[in-house]
Amino acid sequence: MTDDQGAPNEHADDPEEGVVRGDRFSGGPARGFMSSLAADERIFEADLAVDRAHVVMLTEQEIIDDDEAGEILGALDDVEAAGHGSLPDGEDVHEAIETAVIDRVGPVGGKMHTARSRNDEVATCIRHRLRDDLLDALVGVVEAREQLLDTASEHADTVMPGFTHLQYAQPITVGHYLVSYEQALARDTERLLAAFDRTNRSPLGGGAFGGTPFDIDRERTAELLGFESVLANSMDAVSTRDFLVESTSAMATLATTLSGLAEDLVVYAGRDYLEISDDYASTSSIMPQKKNPDSLEIVRARTGNATGSLQGLLTTLKGLPRSYNIDLQEATPHAWTAVDEVPAALDVAVGAVTTATWNEKVLAEEAGAGFSTATGVADLLAKAGVPFRTAHEVVANAAQTFEQTGETPSYETIAEAAEGVLDDPLDSYVDRGAVEDALDPEQSVAMRDSSGGPAPEAVEATLAEARDRLDDDRGAVDARREGIEAAESLLESEVASYD
Ligand code: ARG
Repeated sequence: MTDDQGAPNEHADDPEEGVVRGDRFSGGPARGFMSSLAADERIFEADLAVDRAHVVMLTEQEIIDDDEAGEILGALDDVEAAGHGSLPDGEDVHEAIETAVIDRVGPVGGKMHTARSRNDEVATCIRHRLRDDLLDALVGVVEAREQLLDTASEHADTVMPGFTHLQYAQPITVGHYLVSYEQALARDTERLLAAFDRTNRSPLGGGAFGGTPFDIDRERTAELLGFESVLANSMDAVSTRDFLVESTSAMATLATTLSGLAEDLVVYAGRDYLEISDDYASTSSIMPQKKNPDSLEIVRARTGNATGSLQGLLTTLKGLPRSYNIDLQEATPHAWTAVDEVPAALDVAVGAVTTATWNEKVLAEEAGAGFSTATGVADLLAKAGVPFRTAHEVVANAAQTFEQTGETPSYETIAEAAEGVLDDPLDSYVDRGAVEDALDPEQSVAMRDSSGGPAPEAVEATLAEARDRLDDDRGAVDARREGIEAAESLLESEVASYD
């Protein structure tokens, strides 16, 4: 048997030689170092599916016969039942499963590796497994979006301070704030779906990298495994890990979104804007009064791991020559770290924000803090025909008074601030009631009813659109899941026909 290609060779009938993949170099101090068997537990089930689909195809193409297929497929069932932990030692799960099959049925088991290599095999297994992980993550993101929208709906008119540079900026509503994260998660959904679609392509049949002389049917194995299409060029098929980069990058981007949410909540909890539910908080071992938002600080930190995974992956892949190099084995776990940690962080971050109790009294008191209604007053003047820059100057004068006295400006303060800046007295542009409304945080929010703005009816409109988009996305995730499940049933029934 040659290293990568399982074509029959002169030792095929010799049990001593045929039992183990033709490894001339077994043993030695670097074996454990080179082995991926333990990490490959993650792709154990995927490898069995890939083996089954390959054997079914080889049989349909008359490369192996029905009886041989039946024996191999039966052995694969036994190997599955015994589990990954019962596999013999080997360089990786592919070799170990093949050895386990040969141990059960003898040299005929070696026919399973006809017309393929571990190189196309592992690439197929990673894609097969990653698809499921991406779909699970997508279900989590869709669910999180729904929770955010529901909570936003409940708080469509709860005013709160809005910040830029962590300084009081303009009053907004809690609903507006929460929808801002839902929208980010909607784009995370798009990125994950795109990553799924590019992952869902089959490299199987690429061989070591240079194809095979056997008359294989790559479309058929793709169909049996639920892949949407085949990666045509055999060299590209086995070499590329760009799908890992895209998936890990989508995860790292999602984690970055979550870190911002987590940071907001840490700040808000510190200012008493909300109380984190006990499930997401910890206390101090020494300071009995403390309720710390620890879960959110861990969410914030986990972003570092996801970013690290992406960096590690890209650095591993950089400069790799065509075609297969075993550096690729070291690339894979970076993606698993990201797909495990980020969805867990998502559940915690969104769980924390949607179970928190917003302190409406404090929020209302703070909503107009720092003269955050200033922009609304300038807008009011500009609406009356005063050039915005001039209106800005009027309100900047009032802001200066505010800085000196600490007293939130009244109509009188604004009128005084306008003297010398406007040609005529303030009340010839705007009436007192309108200015007082603009100075009121709730009215200030209501004024900003532009599309996507914080006014309650604008938030309701964004919410309605967001819900439609969420339904579409849920349908997109379900359709992909159904495609995979249909292929699983197909493969199962094809395999059963060899019983
Ligand atoms: N364990 C390897 C991986 O994860 C499988 C392919 C090994 N191929 C080889 N030529 N050594 O990439």
